[in-house]
Amino acid sequence: RCQSFNTDKQRKSNRNLLDNASNLLTNFLSGGSIGSMPIAEGAVTDLFGRPLFFSLYDWFLEHGSVYKLAFGPKAFVVVSDPIVARHILRENAFSYDKGVLADILEPIMGKGLIPADLDTWKQRRRVIAPGFHASYLEAMVKIFRTCSERTISKINQLLEQEGNDGQKLIELDLEAEFSNLALDIIGLGVFNYDFGSVTKESPVIKAVYGTLFEAEHRSTFYIPYWKVPLASYIVPRQRKFQSDLKVINACLDELIRNAKESRQETDVEKLQQRDYLNLKDASLLRFLVDMRGADVDDRQLRDDLMTMLIAGHETTAAVLTWATFLLSQNPDKMRKAQAEVDSVLGTGTPTYESLKKLQYIRLIVVESLRLYPQPPLLIRRSLKPDVLPGGYKGDKDGYAIPAGTDVFLSVYNLHRSPYFWERPDEFEPERFLVQRTNEQIEGWAGFDPSRSLGALYPNEIISDFAFLPFGGGPRKCVGDQFALMESTVALAMLLQNFDVQLKGTPDSVELVTGATIHTKNGLWCKLTKRSNLH
Ligand code: HEM
Repeated sequence: RCQSFNTDKQRKSNRNLLDNASNLLTNFLSGGSIGSMPIAEGAVTDLFGRPLFFSLYDWFLEHGSVYKLAFGPKAFVVVSDPIVARHILRENAFSYDKGVLADILEPIMGKGLIPADLDTWKQRRRVIAPGFHASYLEAMVKIFRTCSERTISKINQLLEQEGNDGQKLIELDLEAEFSNLALDIIGLGVFNYDFGSVTKESPVIKAVYGTLFEAEHRSTFYIPYWKVPLASYIVPRQRKFQSDLKVINACLDELIRNAKESRQETDVEKLQQRDYLNLKDASLLRFLVDMRGADVDDRQLRDDLMTMLIAGHETTAAVLTWATFLLSQNPDKMRKAQAEVDSVLGTGTPTYESLKKLQYIRLIVVESLRLYPQPPLLIRRSLKPDVLPGGYKGDKDGYAIPAGTDVFLSVYNLHRSPYFWERPDEFEPERFLVQRTNEQIEGWAGFDPSRSLGALYPNEIISDFAFLPFGGGPRKCVGDQFALMESTVALAMLLQNFDVQLKGTPDSVELVTGATIHTKNGLWCKLTKRSNLH
C-alpha cells in the first residue's frame, strides 16, 4: 500500500515537473504567459448585483478579448474571440474538460454527455449522435406540432372564459407556458413519456422543476456546500433535491425497463430502414435500445436521458421566451413574421417541408439565440499546458496557460462583439441574409438558403466561430437541429394564432441567469386571438 502510495506520489511529482517544464517552454515560445494577461478586478458587487455576463462584457470592451478575471483566490481566463474559441472548442478540444460545470452537473447527470469523462463521452457520443438523423427529426415535427396545439388550445380556452364582451384579451406568463411546452416535447421526443405539463401538474413534473432549480442554484452559488459530508441529509433543500432525483430516476428506470421489454425485431427493421412514419414510438430511447440490443447499461442510459431532459428543456423554452420578447419590441418584425406564417401555412399546421419555407421565423430563432445565447458562457478547464492563439483583436502573440486553468468562453460577448456585428445590440433577423464580404469579418461565408434543412439555420461554421449558439467542435450540442425545428414550429404556430404584446415595460422584464438567461418574474404578455385569421 505504502509502496503504491509513494509510486503514485512520485508519478504525480514527475508529472508536475513535466508540466512546469512544458509551461516554461510554451511561455518561451509564445508571446506571453497568463501572468502578462490583462487583469479585470471588479468589485465583488459586480458579481452579485447583476448577471455575471454583463460585467464580463464591460471588461471585454475595456481589457480586450482575452483577459484574466481575478475573483478572490480564484482566477478565470475570459475569452471573447472567435479564433481563440475555435482553438479551445475544436482544434485543441481534447486538452480541455468541463471543469467547474462537470462538478456541478455530475450529481444530476452522472456520466451523461455533458459532464462525462473523455472515455465515456467518446463511447456514448458515438451511440447517441446518430439517433438525431434526418428521419428522426422529420418524425419529431409531428410531436412539435401536437404539443404546440395543446398550448394553443389552452390559450384559446382561457380566452373563451373571458366572456363575449368585445375583444377578448388575456394576460399570461408566456415563459411558464413555453417551459411546459418544451418539457412535454423533450419527454415525448427523447423517451416517449407524456409529462402533459401544459395541462396538469404531477409529482414527476414538480421533481423535474425542483432539479432544474437546484442545478441553477449550484451554478450561481460559489461555495459548493453540498459536497460537505451529510449535507444531503441535513440541509433541507439538499434533502428535497435528493428526493426529486429519486422520483425522476424511478420514472426513467421504468421507461428503460419497458423499452427493453417491448423490444421487437419488426421495429428494429423499421428503424434500420429509417421507416419512422410507421413506427408507433419514434423516441430516441427506442433507437438507443433497439439499435444496441440488450447490452446497453441501464445506469448509463438513465444518465443519458437525464442529461437530454435537462439540456433540452429550459434552453428551448428560453429561446421562445426571448424571441417573443424581442418581437413584442419590434411590431414591424412581428407583422412581417405573421405575414410569412400566413402565406406559408394559411390555416394549416407546419410540416417538415413547410419549415424550409418559414425562412423569416427561422432567422428570428437564430437572432434570438445571438442576443440571448443559452448558456451565455461555456466553461472549460485545461487538462495540460496550452498556448492560446493570438486573437482577432487581442494580443497577436497569444498567451500560454498552465494546466488546470479555468476558462469562461463568453458566447454573449462573441455574439454582441462590436468587432464582428454591425449594430450588435439590435434585433435584426435579416442580418443573416447579408453576404459578409467585409474584410473586417474574415471567414464569414454568408448564409445560403438553398442548402439542406440542417444548413438553413446559420451556424458556427459559416460564421467561423463568431456565432456559437450550440457551441462547436466535438462537444457541440447533439440536439441543435431538434431544438431549432422545435422552436420554429412553436413560434410559427403561436404567431399564426395570436397577437402578442408585452404587459409591462421592457425594463420590467428583469434578467436572471443560472444555466440559461431567463426573466425574474415571468414574461407577462397580453394575448388576443388574431383578427385576420382566414
Ligand atoms: C450541448 C445549447 C437544446 C442536448 C450543448 C452546448 C450548447 C447547447 C451551447 C455545448 C456546451 C459546451 O460546449 O459546453 C443548446 C441550446 C438548445 C439546446 C441553445 C436549445 C435551443 C438541446 C436539446 C438536446 C440537447 C433539445 C437534446 C435533445 C445536448 C447534449 C449536449 C449539449 C447532450 C452535450 C453534447 C456533448 O458534450 O457531446 N447544448 N442546446 N440540447 N446539448 Fe444542447
